[in-house]
Amino acid sequence: MNEMRFALIGCGEIGGLRAEALQKSPGLKLVRACDVDAARGKALAAQHGVPYESDWHAALGDDVDAVLVSTPPPLHTPMCLEAFRLGKHVLCEKPLARSPEEGRQIVEAARAAKRHLATGFNYRFYPAIAAAKSVLDSGRIGELDHIRSYAGHPGGTEFTHAWVHDVKVMGGGALVDNGIHILDLTRYFLGEVVEVKGFRTGHVWSFEGCEDNAFALLRNSRGNIAQLQASWSEWRGYRFRIEVYGTRGCVRASYPPMYADAVWSEKPGGPMRRERFFFPALQIKERLKSYRFTVVQSFIEEFAGFLRAAQGQATPAASGHDGLRAVEIAHAVYQSSADGGTVLFPA
Ligand SMILES: NC(=O)c1ccc[n+]([C@@H]2O[C@H](COP(=O)([O-])OP(=O)(O)OC[C@H]3O[C@@H](n4cnc5c(N)ncnc54)[C@H](O)[C@@H]3O)[C@@H](O)[C@H]2O)c1
Repeated sequence: MNEMRFALIGCGEIGGLRAEALQKSPGLKLVRACDVDAARGKALAAQHGVPYESDWHAALGDDVDAVLVSTPPPLHTPMCLEAFRLGKHVLCEKPLARSPEEGRQIVEAARAAKRHLATGFNYRFYPAIAAAKSVLDSGRIGELDHIRSYAGHPGGTEFTHAWVHDVKVMGGGALVDNGIHILDLTRYFLGEVVEVKGFRTGHVWSFEGCEDNAFALLRNSRGNIAQLQASWSEWRGYRFRIEVYGTRGCVRASYPPMYADAVWSEKPGGPMRRERFFFPALQIKERLKSYRFTVVQSFIEEFAGFLRAAQGQATPAASGHDGLRAVEIAHAVYQSSADGGTVLFPA
């Protein structure tokens, strides 16, 4: 295969940024733009010099190797299943599915088709997160002990689409919206989650079936704990933070602004050293071009990972399994909140 040729389904807010990133990604090429909203789809197709298609089935022609699913979640399952039936690779936006059952169907279809399924967890490629991960992996802060993580935005239809607050569309609230990214990042640092306990509350916005805050305790098989919150009542605006504590120090990454720092000692009780990670070039470009600059950069790196993964190589990019696990953990938090119990996953 010379270039991996993509059809984009869904030319909305994220689809537009995905198209821009695809065109800047070596080895990848956008060949079709599809949206039921003709004005939107045609405008994006014209911007990138590719044909427009209104019917997503017709967008999956023989000239397409991979599909980018960037529609609201109820369409993720039928679109992914059809793409795999036709032998395409798929990058599907988060949340992978509205429920664990739908997610399992998608993952199983990818496995049966022997095609690559990726989930759009692009925060893994935010430079502060990459810096924090390399600090943990270097062993500088010792062995992993525990994690605190948080993601929030103000919620409500002034901040985001009305459909994001519809349980029939999303399968839940803050935890499967912005929270699904921090769930993935937490699991990225923690390793596989075997036990979940959680609470959800909905007194702020009162969107039926959608929590505006979710609180979770996650445990991995080695006994390390993560404490996580996802919120739709972060009145100061969009932000997330992850703090990873080890036996000899800690590393913390946050956005916005993009920043990470690490403190550690060579031995317990020894003098503390500190390293700060600033990203001034990114901050200047973000100031000029908005947060979209950062998102597009992360998509470009994610696409490079997608290409490597489809060729069977290792990459930090999130797989379909990662997307499914995030949905399963979110729904375990819902179950725990409803019945007061603890949800166990086989190690
Ligand atoms: N990775 C991220 O950081 C991130 C951030 C926000 C949203 N998302 C996810 O990206 C996806 C898209 O979100 P968005 O904010 O771009 O939404 P959006 O509403 O702006 O765009 C969705 C597009 O899908 C189109 N669409 C709907 N039904 C269709 C159909 N049957 N065939 C073809 N097109 C159809 C709509 O017309 C619309 O243009 C969602 O899954 C969302 O959860 C990801």
